[in-house]
Amino acid sequence: MDKLAWQVADGSSTRHVAIIMDGNGRWAAERGLPRSEGHRQGVEALRRTVEASRDLGITHLTLYSFSSENWSRPKQEINDLFGLLRRFVRRDLAELHKNGVKIRVIGTRAGLDADLLRMIDDAVELTKDNTELNLTIAFNYGSRDEIARAARRIAEDVSNGSVTASDVTPELLGTYLDTAGLPDPDLLIRTSGELRLSNFLLWQLAYSEFVFVDVYWPDFSRELLEAAIDEYQRRSRRFGGTSTRSAG
Ligand code: IPE
Ligand code: IPE
Ligand code: MG
Repeated sequence: MDKLAWQVADGSSTRHVAIIMDGNGRWAAERGLPRSEGHRQGVEALRRTVEASRDLGITHLTLYSFSSENWSRPKQEINDLFGLLRRFVRRDLAELHKNGVKIRVIGTRAGLDADLLRMIDDAVELTKDNTELNLTIAFNYGSRDEIARAARRIAEDVSNGSVTASDVTPELLGTYLDTAGLPDPDLLIRTSGELRLSNFLLWQLAYSEFVFVDVYWPDFSRELLEAAIDEYQRRSRRFGGTSTRSAG
């Protein structure tokens, strides 16, 4: 796919793809491997996807990597997932920075170890001026939790007088979300064949196009990303109006 094809087709300069990276466990089970191996291969797919996104002119890539509900998994699996995140930051940060990737993390800090939080903060700080690709990792993230935290902060600001009740509009609420300042996703991709959001970006996906891909995340590839974008470009986005606006 021509990098520019997706960039110039309409007036907007942002191209935001959000992905629910699902199916690591089933990928491993099909091969008689432990789930941890599926997660390990999932990190490889993540690397490929970041690289392909840069090539394809995607400006914003948002990845769901650990949900607030994933705490209900066995302790060992949670340890594996946290270990992979640590290793990913340790091993890939320099390369991501060199390639102009700006890292952001959304989700709650509650329940995360201080050393992991420091690692995340350092990665965000190091890459804050990069402009090639905005990579947002949803980690310890749940959309209902995000909206509830935003509502709590608004309530605090109303009680301290810096906001009045009539100031509370969708635009204002958006500035209290973890995603404040990020454009809404144009395209949501979920792998593994599941047809649900699992508490991901409920607010931000209001008018996004959804593409469900029938492969497990470790098998996700540049070709499948291109195919999803192709499908996106054939959609007509109406945003509640009557005139059709081609997605591409
Ligand atoms: C996605 O794969 C990774 C995370 C949710 C952390 P899963 O671990 O959900 O794999 P399946 O869905 O059980 O196959
Ligand atoms: C969603 O996948 C969360 C991530 C991909 C991080 P899950 O595997 O946790 O979702 P459910 O349980 O199938 O809805
Ligand atoms: Mg899953």
